[in-house]
Amino acid sequence: VARAASRYLPGVDLRARLAAALAAGRALDPPPDLWVLGGDMMDDGPEPDYRSLGDLCAGLGAPVHLCLGNHDSLDAYARAPLPAAPPRSPGYYSLDIPGFHVVILFTAAERRGAGSLDAAQLEWLREDLASSAPARVLIFMHHPPVEVGVQWLDAIMLKEAGRFWRAADGFRQRICAVLFAHVHFAVSLSRQGVLLASPPAVGWQFRADPGSAKAETAVELPGFNVLDAGESGLTVRTVRFLPPSSIREGDGRGGGGA
Ligand SMILES: [Fe+2]
Repeated sequence: VARAASRYLPGVDLRARLAAALAAGRALDPPPDLWVLGGDMMDDGPEPDYRSLGDLCAGLGAPVHLCLGNHDSLDAYARAPLPAAPPRSPGYYSLDIPGFHVVILFTAAERRGAGSLDAAQLEWLREDLASSAPARVLIFMHHPPVEVGVQWLDAIMLKEAGRFWRAADGFRQRICAVLFAHVHFAVSLSRQGVLLASPPAVGWQFRADPGSAKAETAVELPGFNVLDAGESGLTVRTVRFLPPSSIREGDGRGGGGA
């Protein structure tokens, strides 16, 4: 977090921002039944320290799950996980909640900008979807399996998007949504009846313009998405929050990756 904050939002305490986001989510009425963090939670180098993440998420009142991102480390995370969640190796898993089968994929094993799904994970996904109860499916992953229309970010999307969709397409009637992060701006798309969406980032936002320079930040409020899933369908709404008053916004420039 320290490296990222100095690069994109000088002077900003990103832990305080995450705490503010979690507090805003906790204040929702009704409060969340399930939390999913989109990844890139730490940018502390090869061995991120996740203890403070666990502290921040303790007491959220519902299970917390994490899609590890390219700035995360599965090994480091496994030593200090969130209070109630995997992942340990291999980093991907699924769970059932009322009315839904939830799949958490791990696209960041290579810890590079672009995401990947190896053959073993794709085969696991096929088997998991085939053997799960015939419930509606929500799939979470850090990297987008679609282009979002920003050239430099599309260059670091999920490399195996075609293979992912071939694995998922046989279950398309049950897959409601694929939720991703990584791009640092709010976007929602659809693909053959499947909703695809990213929330805004809790930290810095990237410009969503097709011609924006690499890692050019936008002056936008941070935020997160709320999924309301009921018998009648699924809605996704974006919640923005005012960061803590001590925060100074950055100058709109950056130079790294997503
Ligand atoms: Fe990322």
